[in-house]
Amino acid sequence: MRALVMEQFNQGKIHPDRPVPKPKSDEVLVKVSHVALNPCDWKHLDSMGNPNATLGCDFSGTVESVGDDCLTLKAGDKVCGMIHGGKLPERGSFAEYLVTKGECAMKIPSGMSDADAATFGVGYFTAAMAVFHAQGYKYPPAEQKDGWFLVSGGSTSVGLFVLSLLRQLGVKAIATASPRSFELVKSYGADHVVDYHNRDAALEEIKKVTGGGVVGGLECVGGDDNYFVAINSFVKEGGLLTTITEIPDGAGEIREEVKIGQFGIFTVCGYSFEMLPGLPWLPAIPEDKAWYIDFIKRSQGDSGFLSSTKPNPVELRPGDLDGIAEGMDLIRQDKVSGKKLVYQIA
Ligand SMILES: NC(=O)c1ccc[n+]([C@@H]2O[C@H](COP(=O)([O-])OP(=O)(O)OC[C@H]3O[C@@H](n4cnc5c(N)ncnc54)[C@H](OP(=O)(O)O)[C@@H]3O)[C@@H](O)[C@H]2O)c1
Repeated sequence: MRALVMEQFNQGKIHPDRPVPKPKSDEVLVKVSHVALNPCDWKHLDSMGNPNATLGCDFSGTVESVGDDCLTLKAGDKVCGMIHGGKLPERGSFAEYLVTKGECAMKIPSGMSDADAATFGVGYFTAAMAVFHAQGYKYPPAEQKDGWFLVSGGSTSVGLFVLSLLRQLGVKAIATASPRSFELVKSYGADHVVDYHNRDAALEEIKKVTGGGVVGGLECVGGDDNYFVAINSFVKEGGLLTTITEIPDGAGEIREEVKIGQFGIFTVCGYSFEMLPGLPWLPAIPEDKAWYIDFIKRSQGDSGFLSSTKPNPVELRPGDLDGIAEGMDLIRQDKVSGKKLVYQIA
């Protein structure tokens, strides 16, 4: 099969005759239909991945065969999800076939296109992990804690999924974005959007609109100004700022009543791995995996979160596997705003 493989740092190449991976007893083999791109794809290629790994995380496709112990899926089922591409030879979505654990593939709701389904990958699970697992919001129809939630980077893939989830929970959301993204961000669920380009004006507007500050927040972009605004946006009692980006030096000391909690989505895979070459391995975190498996059950099919949550806006790009290097480069250069780059593979 064809697959986009990391040969060495900064060098990916399409291999024309990679072996089709064989599913273990708890795995499924998926014929890939569409893939969506994430910043972690180029980050794995440039610095986080392992040579000989197949790149790519987000996918949709059709189950080709199932292992003996995989009782919930059958050949022909349409599925989507996320795998930890860029680390292991047989775990990348930028290929004609992939294998994943049967419990990690989500059945696509009827009527959803494969292109839309492919967007429910890294961004979707990161958003859900922030809202439900890190911030402790409850699954509907439970009552939620009162108060505003800040999405710093509302037009990012993660931010749009967070907003779509918060809307379903009835939580008031304020987001930061460029003015070009204001309408999009509102349409996904933000009650108010603030321009991030002037940090003092942004902070003042957030305080005014929320009547004193937010009780929770997610930082999706990084940088000193974003952390400054996010931390100072909290009510005087403080709260938890969840982040998925690098924490600038000194951010933790800005306000001691605002705690900063960081996570990396791939701990949900349930194994220990080396995040960056030379750094200590991240330990397996069993409770993250347990949350993930439970959330997949709540997501799939016609009555789960996949059918009630808006997919990211899709830009279907030309070139199947051959076009992906260009797409990764657009993301690497910050040239993608408010949408997912998606490629049709089959
Ligand atoms: N730790 C984890 O597990 C994890 C998981 C997923 C993602 N991430 C990281 O989280 C980040 C976001 O990922 P993503 O896929 O959601 O991003 P994305 O969709 O590629 O983000 C693009 C968006 O960033 C926005 N943006 C750029 N600078 C901004 C700023 N200063 N303030 C607010 N928004 C800004 C742009 O908004 P405008 O066009 O409106 O300006 C644009 O729409 C990446 O660094 C990614 O690597 C981490």
